[in-house]
Amino acid sequence: MSSSFLSSTAFFLLVLLYLGSFHESDGAQQGTYIVHMAKSQMPSSFDHHSLWYESSLKSVSESAEMLYTYNNAIHGFATRLTPEDANTLKTQPGVISVRPEQRYELHTTQTPLFLGLDVHNSGLFPETCPASDVVIGVLDTGVWPESKSFSDEGYGPIPSTWKGECEAGTNFTACLCNRKLIGARFFVRGYEGEYGPLDESKESRSPRDEDGHGTHTASTAAGSVVEGANLLGFANGTARGIAYRARVAIYKVCWKRDCFSSDILSGIDKAIADNVNVLSCSLGSKIQMTDYSEDDTAIGAFSAMERGIFVSCSADNRGPNPSSLRNEAPWITTVGAGTIDRDFPALAILGNGKNYTGASLFKGDALPAKLLPFVYAGNASNDDDRVKGKIVLCEQGGNDNVEKGEVVKAAGGLGMIIANVPNRGEELQGKAYLLPAATVGRKAGDIIKLYVMTDPNPTASILFQGTAVNVQPSPVLAAFSSRGPNSITPNILKPDLIAPGVNILAAWTEALGPSGLASDTRRVEFNIISGTSMSCPHVSGLAALLKSVHPEWSPAAIRSALMTTAYNTYKDGKPLLDIATVKPSTPFGHGAGHVSPTTAINPGLIYDLTTVDYIDFLCALNYNSSQIRIISRGNYACDPSKTYSVADLNYPSFAVNVDGSETYKYTRTVTNVGGAGSYSVKVTSETTAVKISVEPAVLNFKEVNEKKSYSVTFTVDSSTPSGSNSFGSIEWSDGKHVVASPVAISWT
Ligand SMILES: *[C@@H]1O[C@H](CO)[C@@H](O)[C@H](O)[C@H]1NC(C)=O
Ligand SMILES: *[C@@H]1O[C@H](CO)[C@@H](O)[C@H](O)[C@H]1NC(C)=O
Ligand SMILES: *[C@@H]1O[C@H](CO)[C@@H](O)[C@H](O)[C@H]1NC(C)=O
Ligand SMILES: *[C@@H]1O[C@H](CO)[C@@H](O)[C@H](O)[C@H]1NC(C)=O
Ligand SMILES: *[C@@H]1O[C@H](CO)[C@@H](O)[C@H](O)[C@H]1NC(C)=O
Repeated sequence: MSSSFLSSTAFFLLVLLYLGSFHESDGAQQGTYIVHMAKSQMPSSFDHHSLWYESSLKSVSESAEMLYTYNNAIHGFATRLTPEDANTLKTQPGVISVRPEQRYELHTTQTPLFLGLDVHNSGLFPETCPASDVVIGVLDTGVWPESKSFSDEGYGPIPSTWKGECEAGTNFTACLCNRKLIGARFFVRGYEGEYGPLDESKESRSPRDEDGHGTHTASTAAGSVVEGANLLGFANGTARGIAYRARVAIYKVCWKRDCFSSDILSGIDKAIADNVNVLSCSLGSKIQMTDYSEDDTAIGAFSAMERGIFVSCSADNRGPNPSSLRNEAPWITTVGAGTIDRDFPALAILGNGKNYTGASLFKGDALPAKLLPFVYAGNASNDDDRVKGKIVLCEQGGNDNVEKGEVVKAAGGLGMIIANVPNRGEELQGKAYLLPAATVGRKAGDIIKLYVMTDPNPTASILFQGTAVNVQPSPVLAAFSSRGPNSITPNILKPDLIAPGVNILAAWTEALGPSGLASDTRRVEFNIISGTSMSCPHVSGLAALLKSVHPEWSPAAIRSALMTTAYNTYKDGKPLLDIATVKPSTPFGHGAGHVSPTTAINPGLIYDLTTVDYIDFLCALNYNSSQIRIISRGNYACDPSKTYSVADLNYPSFAVNVDGSETYKYTRTVTNVGGAGSYSVKVTSETTAVKISVEPAVLNFKEVNEKKSYSVTFTVDSSTPSGSNSFGSIEWSDGKHVVASPVAISWT
């Protein structure tokens, strides 16, 4: 199962996936379709585009309900139709495309300190007006507005540019918004279209978060300062969102069973109209897209980017499998996950005197202070008598670890040691188990399994050790973090970078316990969970901070600053590790590296991009005019006399997919955002199979905003076996700044 964080509902969600996606109506099966319209072709007889859209829809189906009209994220609407009516609609004038909507899923305080954003450095970011005028929009499961993380104490008036709203609904009044939580909306028509009316005894028809995920991500990005924040005593300290002075606007697009793209697009549509500055999206499509014009998040994000909104999305939790990414579009900042320097150690103690360090967020009555009988779940699963009064060794997989604990507890088990599946390596996610339980890494798991299966009288115990800080090495790349290569465009490196995403403390809903299990009656103000869902809002918060210091920077400039200053070695110079293998991580795992906020403020040079550059990129991919229109809304035509190349997209990283040629030429243009200076290039290549040459090797800048171009030629050994990768870097430095780009070469 794709990692980590998802709450109890996620398990059901996976089971329910694809069941009941269409229901019967008028004898034919209806589904939700997203209809893109060529707004510029609206006949003059219509006063408003929405009337034209209505009329186009009525021309094929009198009864079809208009779910949403879109005007900012796309031009068009969402409606429920039979496949036959959808086909007829495609032939109507002005209709560019009619596509079935897609299902999306969520990718489930110590961090500011870990990022170097402690009190000593806070002077780098303004404390006053500019920082607090930045608005972060969060597309997620809603918000628990009563959380202290959304307190508006000390906040000035709501920014005058704000056009959003606080929508009332079940258990949610408009008064719940304040000068911190300045907007909250919900989008449920697509969800209700599929599943019928909401059961309001189970989920609120309002922005209220009954899942926890949205409250957690929003407070990670921009939560107010809360002292003495902890989960059951773990990670006690001051909780603070990354851009803790920024404002938050909530767009609830995910519900108990699913997230639908008609709802997500409407959320993006409104976020653009409301004037958010940053959009945080910790969700992604369930299926792998092959084309950006099929991915509604990417489509909506394009329009947001065009309006200067920085969009950061999670890379997904399908690692360490290669090519397991979501949200790969180059106008999105794609965020992978790493660990921080904090752990929740728990010792698995065996009867043979050996012990192994695992992790746990269990709080409750300790186990008896003696060794207890120990059994392997693989030998006992259908037999409660073999579990009762014992500690059970389980293996990860199938359902969530906390659910396995629930089963063990119900069967009378006293405790559980749960071993990682092989591809999770030594990753130790803390979980708020309902019984004494600890997760152990794969190596310890193998040894413990051998012991329990071969010892004639195996015994074990678990010793919980609370919170450990200054754990090294950190960060390490999370095993679950999705990996490149980018399967849509292998010549664009993704993910872009990594940020903290393992065992993150942030605010939580009071509608669900910290384990996410329905049987968990505990209520907590903060919870500790893991996922690229958690790393994404860290980058959203950092983008908000950079936006407050450099309001004129484009989304691409902000991303460039974060990427070129990211680090991929530890202080001792050794490369960052991948916890799945406990070997050095590569740019396919960490992109440009781990964010380094304090250096990102002053990156020296940036790689900027405009809307036209992205359209040229789509031309390079040979997208036809309707695909380009679906993404960009504009009526752009690629110039047939021009040669477009993905290699020319001014991206701050380099990916080369070797497909027969021996040389590959890329061009880049850097903009000086520092003082005058002379930058020299330093190139590194990990293997002799790749030669990298840069021309010119020195770039002289006299003034701010000056642009200089350079080209890079990669000469590769084409006899390298397919499936091989090689990595390197291209670094420009003037002695004060280091502007680094990762290089990833793959032979297909
Ligand atoms: C609304 O709040 C009340 C009181 O807190 C609670 O009993 C009820 O379950 C809530 N409804 C939903 C749908 O969450
Ligand atoms: C958390 O830390 C604060 C301040 O150090 C302390 O007053 C409080 O008792 C601690 N809470 C827990 C649950 O450890
Ligand atoms: C764990 O093992 C180490 C090394 O074998 C030993 O020194 C230590 O006492 C053990 N700790 C516990 C709690 O059993
Ligand atoms: C437990 O299961 C393993 C295989 O999973 C088997 O080899 C072993 O004999 C079983 N042990 C007992 C006591 O049943
Ligand atoms: C554009 O490409 C898409 C996807 O390949 C295809 O479905 C569509 O018919 C094409 N449209 C035009 C106008 O060529």
